[in-house]
Amino acid sequence: MSDAVLNNIKTRRVVREMTDEPVARAQIEAVLEAARWAPSGGNLRPNRYIVIEDAETRRLIRLVSPGMFQKAPVLILICTNWDVAAEHNLPATDRALLIDIGTAAQTMMLAAHALGLASGPVTSYSKEAIKLILNLPDSYSPEMFICLGHKAEAAQPGMRAWKRITWRDLTHWERFKPE
Ligand SMILES: Cc1cc2nc3c(=O)[nH]c(=O)nc-3n(C[C@H](O)[C@H](O)[C@H](O)COP(=O)(O)O)c2cc1C
Repeated sequence: MSDAVLNNIKTRRVVREMTDEPVARAQIEAVLEAARWAPSGGNLRPNRYIVIEDAETRRLIRLVSPGMFQKAPVLILICTNWDVAAEHNLPATDRALLIDIGTAAQTMMLAAHALGLASGPVTSYSKEAIKLILNLPDSYSPEMFICLGHKAEAAQPGMRAWKRITWRDLTHWERFKPE
């Protein structure tokens, strides 16, 4: 892996304060294109994306999203399309559906970072309200927002880490060893 890729992974941080500066359409499309290349269980691609730029829609979304601290100029909502799951007889409990959301989310945030954009995921919102606001069909469930924008000068560093962790704290080598 190149140093540039590793460096991109290590320096991406969630940004919760963004400016009003719009994001260029080409950059939004580049982020969506990156997500298309994220790994997907069975290559089934059950994710669908809703891109929201309209100011009033974003305002309504923020009203029902207590975990959305940033006023991002662009929101990308990752949805699961349950029609795709049904088509392939995937039960709703299949973990691949959740994992696909994660691979898409991280791929989008790394792509955004590589493009010089700020990003942040949000899962704290009223799913029912979001479905109404965005006119989602029953087959689409709203799973995670990716906020996109430009970092505000005064943006605070991320959430406090309880302790600084290293990969060693998270890893067992060969066999489980009690911590
Ligand atoms: C599944 C998941 C849900 C998250 N939900 C939110 C959220 O609702 N609001 C928020 O501000 N950050 C959310 N985050 C971001 C985490 O708080 C953040 O990744 C963590 O504090 C580490 O910060 P870093 O990504 O900048 O290293 C979420 C992250 C994940 C993986």
